[in-house]
Amino acid sequence: MKCKITGKKIIPFMSFGKMPIANGFLNKNDFKKEFFYELKVGFSEKFSLFQLDEYPSIKKMFHKNYPFYTSSSNYMIKHFKEYANWSKKYLNSKSKIIELGSNDGTFLKNFKNTNIEAIGFEPSKNVSDIAKKKGIKSINRFFNLENISDLKDFKTNTDLICGANVVCHIPDLINLFNTVDKLLSKDGVFVFEEPYLGSVYEKNSYDQIYDEHIYIFSGVAISKIAAEFDLKLIDLIPQSTHGGSMRYVVCRKNSKKSQSKNVNKIISYEKKINLDNSQFCKNFKNNCEISKKNLKKKLIELKNQNKKICGYAATSKSTTVLNYCNIGPEIIDFITDTTPEKIGKYSPGSHIPIIDHKLFLKEKPDVSVLFAWNHAKEIMNKEKIYKFNGGKWLTFFPRVKVW
Ligand code: TMP
Repeated sequence: MKCKITGKKIIPFMSFGKMPIANGFLNKNDFKKEFFYELKVGFSEKFSLFQLDEYPSIKKMFHKNYPFYTSSSNYMIKHFKEYANWSKKYLNSKSKIIELGSNDGTFLKNFKNTNIEAIGFEPSKNVSDIAKKKGIKSINRFFNLENISDLKDFKTNTDLICGANVVCHIPDLINLFNTVDKLLSKDGVFVFEEPYLGSVYEKNSYDQIYDEHIYIFSGVAISKIAAEFDLKLIDLIPQSTHGGSMRYVVCRKNSKKSQSKNVNKIISYEKKINLDNSQFCKNFKNNCEISKKNLKKKLIELKNQNKKICGYAATSKSTTVLNYCNIGPEIIDFITDTTPEKIGKYSPGSHIPIIDHKLFLKEKPDVSVLFAWNHAKEIMNKEKIYKFNGGKWLTFFPRVKVW
């Protein structure tokens, strides 16, 4: 494989096997023509960058029916409100904002009824249309050099370019940073929060690795990449979203903004656990293999006891777990989900039927595998009756546990 920044060859250190598109929920009659690729990962020493080898075309991933709505989680609505409030320290009343991957407008909605001019770039039409209905300026395009020619007022005039769980989706980081360079004001900031390599490694949450997550960043990786584009990393703020994310704050190298103490603190920690070099990769691979063995063993044990097993939430992450561990409908009877686009369909690759979450209690599963483990708190609050009725949860990070 080739490093996506240097173009130099890197040897993948691990394969998760044949994978379908993580969000490629499908009908029965589409099983035969389902698309698969090999999910392999590698590490670039130069940029300390964890990256996928092969990944499907982004048009396959972000299409007119992208089945994810930020506003499907109350926790995420609250998170984006806090994110928006926090970002105001970089803004004045006449600032301009651009959000990348603005989805259904959950973040930008917080700037409505202000003088701040905010626009979102959202390549998936269905979610972009929802944002428009909310009165948000949503451009149904990818954020790149080719798509900003008509944004004259924003050129070198945007105080905040931001995103959440989006930069890791963008294959061409060179084009991305060059686009940011064209738009960012002299003292503006580029802020993004993404699943964090430190959390993936510590929790062994390998399910963050799927086609849409082309990169899993760390502080050290972003500081090196920023420097390559005459930018500097000035803050690192850990986030609890997506099972452990990091917010990166980057500005122009010659900006007067000072660097927070967090940057050195977190980067020193990353160096201590070898996230800046490929030494951690071997451990990570071993941990994934152990996790796979333990999860499969526990599920087979439960099935042999005739337990009815449900998957809770058809998450994109679960596509990696189900396909890497070879778990199908012979083990997991069904998955419940709240998203209309997923209900009535089958999970990618593993072909487990997805049913409406409204049927969750009626179906009385003995055990529910918590695929949306990053939303555990919200789900436990919601599903008290299930537990009260004797239902059990199965979680698998950092280790397999039935409770
Ligand atoms: P994601 O992890 O790929 O973002 O997908 C989250 C999925 O989980 C989405 O389809 C909605 C679903 N979900 C539920 O079904 N119930 C819940 O309580 C939560 C928080 C999410």
